Amino acid sequence: MSNPDSNINGSTRPKLQGVPAALACVADYERLAAEFVDHPIFEYLQGGSGNEQSLRDNLRVFDECYVQNRLLADVSQGGTHTTLLQHRLRHPILLAPVAYQRLAHPEGELEAARGADALEAGWVTSTLSSCSLEDIAAQHQGMRWFQLYFQPQRAHTLDLVRRAQAAGYSAIVVTLDATVQASSRRAQRAGFAFPKGVSAVNLQGYAAPPQVALTPEQSVILQGAMAEAPTWQDLEWLLDNTDLPVLVKGVQRVADAERLLRLGVQGLVASNHGGRALDGMPAPLRVLPQLRQALGKQVPILLDSGIRSGYDVFKALALGADAVLIGRPFLYGLAVAGALGVAHVLRLLRDELELCMALAGTPTVADIGPDSVFRLD
Ligand SMILES: Cc1cc2nc3c(=O)[nH]c(=O)nc-3n(C[C@H](O)[C@H](O)[C@H](O)COP(=O)(O)O)c2cc1C
Repeated sequence: MSNPDSNINGSTRPKLQGVPAALACVADYERLAAEFVDHPIFEYLQGGSGNEQSLRDNLRVFDECYVQNRLLADVSQGGTHTTLLQHRLRHPILLAPVAYQRLAHPEGELEAARGADALEAGWVTSTLSSCSLEDIAAQHQGMRWFQLYFQPQRAHTLDLVRRAQAAGYSAIVVTLDATVQASSRRAQRAGFAFPKGVSAVNLQGYAAPPQVALTPEQSVILQGAMAEAPTWQDLEWLLDNTDLPVLVKGVQRVADAERLLRLGVQGLVASNHGGRALDGMPAPLRVLPQLRQALGKQVPILLDSGIRSGYDVFKALALGADAVLIGRPFLYGLAVAGALGVAHVLRLLRDELELCMALAGTPTVADIGPDSVFRLD
């Protein structure tokens, strides 16, 4: 068992006695988190791909969207409850799949999952988690899903899905927008390298396929890394080989969404991977209204990328999301105060959402709609 007072490189973490009252929002946690993890790690967690156009847009878009109030509404019977794939949830804020959480805290995903459970938040374990998917499952009683990256060999992909099902995960979230990933410039400049002891433990035991030698004319990316990237046939195969509901994460185009649904995918996550995949993609909040309009009311659509407050959650719900996921915000909480920090971040977001609902005159999640916001565009 690692020492929770030391960070992953063995140096001593700053100590917190409870959560200081001065931590009043996600931005406060973000500032403090920089003091709790080594600089290269912080840059790895924060960074976006390429020129970070998408990363910037993810935050900017929420500032371009305004909330409209409705006067004299009775909200006294209201609440943030919602239902997602037959699960009744206390609130529509889930924790996004995030790889290698032991970078942020020695107990990594185990702590984060405890914090999520305490606030009754839905949880998604990453294929690349640094604690095993089985150990994480034991920390979270509520709705938990497993995020799948297709593996080069189908037998390994299927093994992950079966393990997830055996461990009580109730849906598979297939991420399709990051089939190849480069280290961010920030991480490179800061000299980020994975510390010893932080690895993708779920994949241990899956032998890597033999490397195919490339000719000088061939591309390391197109013929190299992408040679093993999944195709539509792989997704169809997956759908034929599991009876768990499958959601797809990383959707932005209506045509893709429609094709996914025709194949039997049961839900979508509008996302640009927190600005860490294809740089230049718009913030998902920009494409969400189109997706909702094209797909109708019944299809579960979640959104992530850029949620930093309960007001952002409200805006995403107004423009068509059934629920949202947060990535970096819970990592900040995890880095600062482990499970307590994660729970506190979630509590801050939920309280802000309730405050926003109260003043906007929308007592329930179902009352939040396009007329609850307006955008300058
Ligand atoms: C450090 C880090 C690791 C991530 N790892 C994964 C992953 O393993 N699988 C995945 O589908 N998404 C991954 N994501 C993307 C998140 O699931 C989510 O889409 C993104 O963080 C949302 O944006 P936000 O950080 O602005 O909330 C990762 C994001 C970060 C910041």
